[in-house]
Amino acid sequence: MPSRVRRGALAAALALVTLAALQPGIAPAGARGMGPLPPCRYDDIMTTPRGYDDWSTTLVDTILRVPRSYIPPDLVSVSKAGIAGRGKVRAIVIDDLRAMAEAAAAAGNAIGVQSAYRSYESQQAVFDGWVANNGYASALTFSARPGHSEHQLGLAIDFRSDPGGSPFTGSWGSTPAGSWMKKHAWEYGFIRSYPPNDQRVTCYANEAWHYRYVGRDLAAAIRASGLTLRQYLWANFTTTVVPAVTPRPGHTVKPTALPASPEASPEPSATEGTTFAPETAEPTRPSSPGAAPSALGPSGATAPNPPPIDASPVADLDPAVAAGLGAALIGVLLVMVLVLRRGRSGAGL
Ligand code: DAL
Ligand code: ZN
Repeated sequence: MPSRVRRGALAAALALVTLAALQPGIAPAGARGMGPLPPCRYDDIMTTPRGYDDWSTTLVDTILRVPRSYIPPDLVSVSKAGIAGRGKVRAIVIDDLRAMAEAAAAAGNAIGVQSAYRSYESQQAVFDGWVANNGYASALTFSARPGHSEHQLGLAIDFRSDPGGSPFTGSWGSTPAGSWMKKHAWEYGFIRSYPPNDQRVTCYANEAWHYRYVGRDLAAAIRASGLTLRQYLWANFTTTVVPAVTPRPGHTVKPTALPASPEASPEPSATEGTTFAPETAEPTRPSSPGAAPSALGPSGATAPNPPPIDASPVADLDPAVAAGLGAALIGVLLVMVLVLRRGRSGAGL
């Protein structure tokens, strides 16, 4: 074989090997249980798994997120479950939602839906509204930044009594409907994501009304484990590698401390002086979103104003895809080097 053909073949092989080694699916996958549960802090790391078929095991929290483009393909109205209230959920929720609503009503504790699916954009509006009403540091303790909310998964519902007003005021958890949900929701596949006394691991204040659908089997397993949803999903399904901190160029980041007495943290309620109902009246967004306070949280931030989420067009790029692109670039460079060398040796002939 002529040497230049050999070199060409070698270059192509090298490029392919480099590319293949770094491609998604061929690169070593993250192992299950990637170390201990990360302490609560505010970050923007893409969660894995996050396929629409991975609905029951996808974890979003104050660190892990889904992309702006995450819109479940099978959203349907909650009215399909015969429950009062408005909003959408994934179709996979409907049967169990109907069964739960019927059981609650039969027990004399009828429930309704206050808020269900929220797009990235609606979550942004909700979060901004709470920031406007309560301040950024306070909002972070009970409202998810866009991309980080279980509502964007189409699997979370904020319940209320039926008939009844907003559950966000007062102690809805102590009402007959709230108490019934605490006891029975898991039987229908719903887990209370942010129970009281667990803020150090859930990263959010107590929310008696917020339930996440995971399906009956997983809900039973989570309940039996005694763990919170975040702990259970992290330990058993999440494969995202979460560095201790994710420094951004030019910024110093350290973990964000939570309040010393999470139990004492108030629920977002009328007692906090807000009249804003996030799901029924979307607030006016601040005229300058870029002026929003740092995403690093109420304390521990040493550098204000990190880049806003999704400020860059590649913000949602999967790391594996980025690696693949890098490999392709390396391959092209290799070919260019070999072509140049061939040109030089040819000149000596
Ligand atoms: N209130 C919960 C954390 C949310 O905004 O999704
Ligand atoms: Zn909620």
